[in-house]
Amino acid sequence: MAREACGSNPFVSPEEMARQKEYSEKAALMIKNKYAEPKAHIRTYGCQQNVSDSERIRGLLSEMGYGVTETAEEADLILFNTCAVREHAEDRVFGNVGALKHHKRRKPDSLLVLCGCMMQQQNVADRIKKSYPHIDLVFGTHVIHRLPELIYKAHTEKKRIFELPDIDGIIAEGLPVQRDGDIKGWLPIMYGCNNFCTYCIVPYVRGRERSRNPENILEDAKTLIASGIKDITLLGQNVNSYNGGGLNFSQLLRMLNELPGDFRIRFMTSHPKDCTAELLQTMADCGKVAKHLHLPFQAGSDEVLKSMNRRYDKQKYLSLIQTAKQLMPTLTFTSDVIVGFPGESYENFLETLELIKEVQFTSLFTFIFSPREGTPAAKLADPISREEKVKWFSLLTKTQEEISLCINRRWMGKTLRVLVEEEDKEKGVLNGRTEGNIIVEFEGPPDLVGSFAEVRITETLTWVLKGSLQ
Ligand code: SAM
Ligand code: SF4
Ligand code: F3S
Repeated sequence: MAREACGSNPFVSPEEMARQKEYSEKAALMIKNKYAEPKAHIRTYGCQQNVSDSERIRGLLSEMGYGVTETAEEADLILFNTCAVREHAEDRVFGNVGALKHHKRRKPDSLLVLCGCMMQQQNVADRIKKSYPHIDLVFGTHVIHRLPELIYKAHTEKKRIFELPDIDGIIAEGLPVQRDGDIKGWLPIMYGCNNFCTYCIVPYVRGRERSRNPENILEDAKTLIASGIKDITLLGQNVNSYNGGGLNFSQLLRMLNELPGDFRIRFMTSHPKDCTAELLQTMADCGKVAKHLHLPFQAGSDEVLKSMNRRYDKQKYLSLIQTAKQLMPTLTFTSDVIVGFPGESYENFLETLELIKEVQFTSLFTFIFSPREGTPAAKLADPISREEKVKWFSLLTKTQEEISLCINRRWMGKTLRVLVEEEDKEKGVLNGRTEGNIIVEFEGPPDLVGSFAEVRITETLTWVLKGSLQ
């Protein structure tokens, strides 16, 4: 794939956005004539960045006249928004893409579409081209705003479309959004990544780091708050290196914290190398910023961290945690960990176990290393067997379960503010989350869903707190 430069201005021009609007109107007319009640089915794999992209894809499809269906069988358009972060995720997608050929046979008039990080890899695009001829349209992570044009062409041109420019990345403002829920909302503040951790495919498929302007972020936040959203998560692969309109991430947080309304602000993901004392102080100062820090450490051994190109060591990580705990005694921590990185020894792994015991995370996202073609780590010698790595992985998750159960006990008898997210009709309870992102179950009237409630904790389990409404 040829690499195009995107220059210093990553913003899509108003002329291009207007051109897409015209395509959207033309596509809407055509789709209306073609289907009685056009329906789209969207399946999203991967991280919140993809979830947020799918909300925009849904917005664009809705403007073209598609309704949404959860039932793939009845869909006139099926779209998979894919993830490339681990091999297992990719295998699942290939399996499901293969199965789509039955859908095409039953509904030859339907459109089958693939997009997202996985498609941004040349080897994957080649495989789809060659072995999955029923797929009509494939597009990459940098052209979501051009969906109207691509859908129009996929309907009118009698050929398959592969639109996968390999560029540094763009920012498209003003896309329509159809959100997943009305209590919690995603707010992207930046895209891409410049860190090139040696195991990670993300910088290759998402392009270089680029930040949105604070004015646009502020407008989106106001819209979310006005629509009743009570929990806003600022998104980016490394939000700490946000740099938009002369503001750094701490300054952006302070600005958002000033907005009127009763809501929480969360953010993910933070990189320890850019987690500054200023940021921790900002979190402590800002009442609306949830007291929860997701700070991936990936490995407890300095040797492994160096080989991962993480650019911090265990000491730096632990001192950040210590400062954060001093500033915010109720702060909860979560993290990402990789087990079985190439060259990691059992002794190295034991350092990871030591670290999780020292920090006391409330929960962890744990992964076994998965080699990703094109990344430096995929070329490293990896002598430890899969069976051995699975043993380490089980030990890690078992240790974390014990820690989670133990530290959840500190909430016993306390009254916590819970954002009520849903009613579990089967159990006859309401579910919500604390600002530390811990799930709380309690009995109460369903009309509390979408608001904050005070709940006194009466039982503490590994992953859930139970309580009674105050
Ligand atoms: N930017 C974030 C960060 O640096 O923590 C998140 C990146 S990634 C989307 C989410 C997590 O997937 C990473 O933190 C890492 O633990 C895991 N991951 C990424 N590449 C992996 C690989 N090749 N094998 C196993 N786990 C991987
Ligand atoms: Fe991947 Fe590292 Fe970037 Fe996170 S910071 S997206 S792990 S390269
Ligand atoms: Fe996957 Fe892309 Fe996210 S690779 S984890 S969907 S940025």
